[in-house]
Amino acid sequence: MKKIFALLALAGTAHLAAAADVVGNAEAAKNKIATCIGCHGIPGYKSTFPEVYQVPMIGGQSRKYIENALKEYRQGERNHPTMRGVAGSLTDQDIADLAAYYSQQK
Ligand code: HEC
Repeated sequence: MKKIFALLALAGTAHLAAAADVVGNAEAAKNKIATCIGCHGIPGYKSTFPEVYQVPMIGGQSRKYIENALKEYRQGERNHPTMRGVAGSLTDQDIADLAAYYSQQK
């Protein structure tokens, strides 16, 4: 019984910490970039949906810029349908991790 309470307490603090301060972890992003690589990993790649579209390079852009862009897609403030779909399934932690990862790329 004691064990269960200890676990609950731990889970509680972990959750609080995450809500208060989301810190991006580039290492953790390596499990999350599989979907992005298909479009953003290829220099000069063009997506064909909803029309032929130059996919922007995101590697090396500032962390804050990438984070804001993904949140804007998620909230619908940016309107590209593909990126809205992608960003819609990301958590704040995912976004922070991805921004950390891509901002460190050259
Ligand atoms: C199916 C192709 C596709 C996939 C998959 C995809 N993207 Fe994108 N992404 C695009 C296109 C096209 C744009 C440009 C859209 C626009 O102009 O609004 C874009 C824009 C962006 C931007 C804004 C760049 C800028 O310069 O404003 C960011 C940041 C971004 N994507 C991150 C990601 C991340 C992170 C993932 C993976 C979780 C991802 N994308 C997956 C096609 C894709």
